[in-house]
Amino acid sequence: MERTLLVIKPNVVALNKTGEILARCEKEGFVILGLKHLILSPQEAKLFYKIHEDKGFYRELVNYITSGHIIACCLGRQNAIRYLREIVGDTDPAKAAPGTLRAMYGTDIEHNGVHASNPDEDPEREVHFFFSTHELLS
Ligand code: PPS
Repeated sequence: MERTLLVIKPNVVALNKTGEILARCEKEGFVILGLKHLILSPQEAKLFYKIHEDKGFYRELVNYITSGHIIACCLGRQNAIRYLREIVGDTDPAKAAPGTLRAMYGTDIEHNGVHASNPDEDPEREVHFFFSTHELLS
């Protein structure tokens, strides 16, 4: 079973949509291997998004993810990394296919509701950013 990371972002957590999103993931065949409710400090958020530090929207990205409680979730499934990206949809909710999580819960490109590990950006690093090995179901 492959692992990936889903983060439910602050505005969606505040809307009480966590259960809906986790139920959708389970329905799609994912197993919840780890789950955490937390607030990232600006320093932690900068580290998490370090790969984007040269982008013009880096400050907005860090401000958004630190604006409230988030849910970090390690999900397992066959082909988990690519399949989660499919059900999460395009970065821009306006371009995301109907039924994808960003189309359903994102409001605009800056507030797109959820994060899913990019296959090219080391999903295991992201999983271990939030979870130590003993916190994850194996
Ligand atoms: S990805 O997942 O790396 O392929 O996504 P990418 O499109 O490269 O974007 C990287 C993260 O930056 C966020 N993003 C933005 N934030 C604010 N404003 C603008 N214009 C913008 N464009 C992209 C995007 O949501 C990605 O963060 P996550 O947490 O993965 O959603």
